[in-house]
Amino acid sequence: MNTEKSPHFVFLVGFMGAGKTSVGQALSRRLGWAFEDLDDRIQTRESETIEHIFRTAGEAAFRIAEREAVRELLAEVAASPRVVALGGGTFADPETAFLLQGTGFPIIFLDASVEELWRRCCEQALERPLRQDLDQFTELYHRRHPHYLRASLRVETGGKAIETIATEVARVLGLG
Ligand code: S3P
Repeated sequence: MNTEKSPHFVFLVGFMGAGKTSVGQALSRRLGWAFEDLDDRIQTRESETIEHIFRTAGEAAFRIAEREAVRELLAEVAASPRVVALGGGTFADPETAFLLQGTGFPIIFLDASVEELWRRCCEQALERPLRQDLDQFTELYHRRHPHYLRASLRVETGGKAIETIATEVARVLGLG
């Protein structure tokens, strides 16, 4: 991992409910870096909500749109330092993961038990096309987990407050 590049990008990966967006926002405030949510970039590029893309074009089309958004984002690495929250499936897509790993920037896996991830998602009023029932959610989590483990670093988030996790991430990055 090359963390000597400047300016820095940090990518946050993990399953739905991992806290990628909220921890990313807290981390960006702490570091004084910009924050970006990849899903927002996809929605802007496609002029559609994520939910609509899934419903009308399907997951395969979403993954292509997601990969294109990542390519566009990576063309901006010379811009200001940025904390980037990826989607739950971004790093589980081998082609997209390859692009991200090729940057040499740190990729942080935010993990928690599947029960806690499910509970957090149930508490959020967010439309998530790939969250159906607990069995489906659990199966998808286990299928993706080996992909997430290819991240540079793993941070356990279970039972922790957002600010605590952001502090921990800053520390593992050597920026705390
Ligand atoms: C997805 C997770 C979502 C979003 C899309 C697909 C996934 O992001 O990118 O619905 O494949 O797990 P969050 O992880 O932020 O919910």
